[in-house]
Amino acid sequence: MQFLSILALASATLSTPVEPLTKRNFCFLYNNQDCRDFTLYQVPTDQIENHIVIGDETNVPAGLSDFHGVWYMNGNPLADECLSFAKTVANADGTWTARVYDENIWSWDPNFDGKVLYDAVRTFALTYVLKKVTNDKIHVTPTIFTPNYLLGQKVSIGDMLAEFEIVRTADPNLWLRPSSFFGHYVGSYNFTRIVYGNGTRTERYYTDYLPNVNNPQKKQAVTLLPTQLLAKVAQ
Ligand SMILES: *[C@@H]1O[C@H](CO)[C@@H](O)[C@H](O)[C@H]1NC(C)=O
Ligand SMILES: *[C@@H]1O[C@H](CO)[C@@H](O)[C@H](O)[C@H]1NC(C)=O
Repeated sequence: MQFLSILALASATLSTPVEPLTKRNFCFLYNNQDCRDFTLYQVPTDQIENHIVIGDETNVPAGLSDFHGVWYMNGNPLADECLSFAKTVANADGTWTARVYDENIWSWDPNFDGKVLYDAVRTFALTYVLKKVTNDKIHVTPTIFTPNYLLGQKVSIGDMLAEFEIVRTADPNLWLRPSSFFGHYVGSYNFTRIVYGNGTRTERYYTDYLPNVNNPQKKQAVTLLPTQLLAKVAQ
């Protein structure tokens, strides 16, 4: 079973997510990494670039300049769809950290699966630590923080459990995202730039992204719905 599905199941047993997410004391019940309270809100899929923060030279660390713009996880079996590296931060050791649950950088399907997944990601403060292995390959280590009642430990999901990579292709708007779980390769999906850092849509917005909206040819998890959810800090 996939790592995030395990998180989602664990979280679903703790609470049933509602929209907006019920206000909870994350610091007490869950973890003390980030006490902000988030809610989800709906945006149109065909205007995602007007809502998600577009990554550019002002907000993406210099070492990740290949990843400006907005990216679509095309073929990802889970209920998350688009992301931007706009709030990724550089660490002292040369790696970078992206907070998956953060405000306006990651989109979720507007259904039960998307809300459960977001709830799990928020509950465990999921972050991705990115490390450049070669100029053509980024290694991604998921890191979670256990709830305070489990001692508030930082847990890196090591190579044997879940290994994600982002691998360059000849097209700068298409990278591949192979995944392995428990040492077994489970497949790769297209990590596709749909919007440039300057806000202009790429060709792939029209050929790879919009055609997936309500597409009956696609598996349910891969179909895009006409809206998506973004997180924002609750008022
Ligand atoms: C991934 O990209 C390749 C190259 O553009 C394309 O042939 C393939 O159909 C894409 N896969 C999906 C799931 O869209
Ligand atoms: C935005 O960037 C792309 C890729 O560099 C470029 O082709 C396009 O002309 C730019 N659009 C504008 C409006 O600057």
